[in-house]
Amino acid sequence: MARGTFYITTPIYYPSDNLHIGHAYTTVAADALARFKKLTGYDTRFLTGSDEHGQKIERSAKSRGQTPQEYVDKVVAGFKHLWKQLEVDYDDFIRTTEPRHQEVVAAIFQKLYDQGDIYKASYEGRYCTPCEAFWAESRLSGGNCPDCGRPVELLREESYFFRMSKYAGRLLEHIEAHPEFIQPVSRRNEMVSFIKSGLEDLCVSRTTFNWGISVPFDPKHVIYVWVDALTNYISALGYGTGDDSLFKRYWPANVHLMGKDIVRFHSIIWPVILMAAGIELPERVVGHGWLLLESGKMSKSKGNVVDPLVLIDKYGVDAIRYYLLRELPFGSDGYYSEDALVERINKDLANDLGNLVSRSIAMMEKYFQGTVQPPGIHESVDRELIDLALQTPAAVEELMDHMDLAGALSVVWRLVGRANKYVDETAPWRLAKDPAQKGRLATVMYNLAESLRFITVMTAPFMPMLPARVWAQLGIEDRPELAAWESLASWGGLPYGTAVKRGPALFPRIQTAK
Ligand code: ME8
Ligand code: MG
Repeated sequence: MARGTFYITTPIYYPSDNLHIGHAYTTVAADALARFKKLTGYDTRFLTGSDEHGQKIERSAKSRGQTPQEYVDKVVAGFKHLWKQLEVDYDDFIRTTEPRHQEVVAAIFQKLYDQGDIYKASYEGRYCTPCEAFWAESRLSGGNCPDCGRPVELLREESYFFRMSKYAGRLLEHIEAHPEFIQPVSRRNEMVSFIKSGLEDLCVSRTTFNWGISVPFDPKHVIYVWVDALTNYISALGYGTGDDSLFKRYWPANVHLMGKDIVRFHSIIWPVILMAAGIELPERVVGHGWLLLESGKMSKSKGNVVDPLVLIDKYGVDAIRYYLLRELPFGSDGYYSEDALVERINKDLANDLGNLVSRSIAMMEKYFQGTVQPPGIHESVDRELIDLALQTPAAVEELMDHMDLAGALSVVWRLVGRANKYVDETAPWRLAKDPAQKGRLATVMYNLAESLRFITVMTAPFMPMLPARVWAQLGIEDRPELAAWESLASWGGLPYGTAVKRGPALFPRIQTAK
């Protein structure tokens, strides 16, 4: 029985270039949250995709001598390849060039026009093409785009406008009444003051380029790329079409996850579109921090990008995912460096977890011919380990509900540390020397093996390749019920008599120059 539904989305990325480690961070975080929700019994849907229209894409294609469609097809195939390499298990991938998307965008635009929320007027304004954003003169910084600092272009044209101003009051009320709507709270405060400084009507059409969805009743106009893009979250569910069963089942979204750069679009433009269209608002818009390089902000246009495919080849997908999810504290920025990545692998994965697994299994082979024995004699030190193991799943769940993936991993690693300490405290090699301690030794081995099972179940959403490798060593690869979240409700699920078997090192140490 499902505990309820959970719908999570990533931004749909621009295929103006290949994706880098920053995009990988968002998508891997969403994937881990989706996997966690599935594991804990939710009927989960996870959506990602690509945002393929707009002037920037049209220009990228042109500069390569390709049609926009040829160009995006190729880049988007690369997106999908990257997600596969990163073990990203999405339920749907939406492309804004798909008819199923375009139809919904056109229908919503038409509806807003019919009800008078979209009107035609003459427009003069500043436009930042890399950000696909309009700016009022008063918001420019030194004449440039206040977000990216690049020059803006003066646009003068007949355009369609969306009456954002009409909904500003209702939007503020919604934000006040739903403290969890925009996270973290620092982003929420920014958005509130942005709205309070006055929402202007938004220019929602362009005539200076063609690569987009036409305004249905005035086809020389193309629909503004953000109105087009944001609608993906419901077009992918078949909103307003003959088959809207997914929409009925999963909307409103529980989490729109993204970087802080685009929280404004999601917590102002998107909710106002939804309000105007009479659709419920998403539960949470979550803006995570920025992954920075020592050399500054990573960006496709700067060319200082870190390619996740290269890192996966070098270190393996689980290690990359672990690093990304562990390193960036929720809501704040973090620095990427390969040294820090290697340090995490060597310390957390090779030393702490890898060692715990290999020495536990090795001792079980040595002392009990690789067979899990029923525990014999108990001591109070066992209780400490067992209690911590039994408390950890609830702690992980609580942190995951607050989007704190790094925090969740750190409580799992507290258990890894506790289990390693348990080995030192119980000193099995000493017990093994005394035949009278056989029962005690059996207990210690059992508790270690069961700890490994607990730890592995909890790490599965973060490191999807790890469980199969540990289950093979623990001899329970054909017992999926022992990998279920519910199996962590009580201690002792690992059956007596199970045959364990040492395998290759889970995370070999990376040699460093130092
Ligand atoms: O904005 N650190 O697409 P985009 C962390 N198409 N996250 C980063 C990052 C970094 N250095 N760099 C990029 C768009 N990201 C629109 C979205 S949604 C309806 C339309 C991630 O290709 C982060 O999630 O520019 C950020 O919000 C997103 O990539 C921007 O991707
Ligand atoms: Mg961007």
